[in-house]
Amino acid sequence: MSESYDYLFKFLVIGNAGAGKSCLLHQFIENKFKEDSSHTIGVEFGSKIINVGGKSVKLQIWDTAGQERFRSVTKSYYRGAAGALLVYDITSRDSFNVVSTWLRDARLLASPGVVILLIGNKKDLDVERQVTFIEASQFAQENELMFLETSAKTGESVEESFLKCSKTILAKIESGELDPDRTGSGIQYGSQPKTLNVNTSGDNRNKLFTPDCICNTY
Ligand code: GTP
Ligand code: MG
Repeated sequence: MSESYDYLFKFLVIGNAGAGKSCLLHQFIENKFKEDSSHTIGVEFGSKIINVGGKSVKLQIWDTAGQERFRSVTKSYYRGAAGALLVYDITSRDSFNVVSTWLRDARLLASPGVVILLIGNKKDLDVERQVTFIEASQFAQENELMFLETSAKTGESVEESFLKCSKTILAKIESGELDPDRTGSGIQYGSQPKTLNVNTSGDNRNKLFTPDCICNTY
C-alpha cells in the first residue's frame, strides 16, 4: 500500500562528531536509544511521517558524518534542505565552539529559506555540562535560530525538535514565505488521492528527492 502525506520535507542533521546526531535520529524513528552508536561513515538516511497541525508530513532525513574527513561528501547533501538540526553536545565546549562554522555552511549550501534548529544534546549528562542553556540560547537568538536541549538517551524533546522545525516550515508555506514549487526548496507536495484526478504536470508532485548515494538506511 502506498503511503500518503501532504508534504515531504528534506531535513539535514549536522554538527560535530560524537554530538549524538545518529542517536537523535534513531530515537526519533525507532523510539530507542542506540547504545552502540559508532561514527557515521558519509551519510545515513531515515524517514518518518508525522502529524503537524493536522497535516501529514513525511520527513526525509539525512544524518551526516561529523568527522572532518567526510566533509566534502556530506556537504553535497546540504543542497535543497528545507530544515536542518544543528547539534552540539552540552558536555563538549569544543562542539559548541564550532557551531558557527556549521551554521555558515548550512546557510550557504542548503535551501535559501532553510529553517535551522540548534540542539544542545545529552541533556541527561547535566553534571558534565560545559555549555550553559543561557549562552546557547543567546547565540541562537543572535543568529535567528530556534533552540532546544534534548537527550537522545531519555528521548526528552527529541520528537519536539523535529516537530518544531516542521511547524515553522509549514507556517512559512502557509504564509507564502516558502514556495514548495520552487526548485531546490526542499519541500514537495505529497501524493494526491487518485479520484481527484489532479493535473500535476509542471509541478513537483509525487517526486522523491533522489540522493546521490545512500550509505546506510534506517
Ligand atoms: P558522527 O556520526 O561521528 O558524526 O557522530 P554522531 O553525532 O552521530 O554521534 P552518535 O549519535 O553516534 O553518538 C556519539 C556517542 O554519544 C555515543 O556513544 C552515544 O551513545 C552517545 N550519546 C548520543 N546521544 C546521547 C545522549 O543524549 N545522552 C548520552 N548520555 N549519550 C549520548
Ligand atoms: Mg552519526
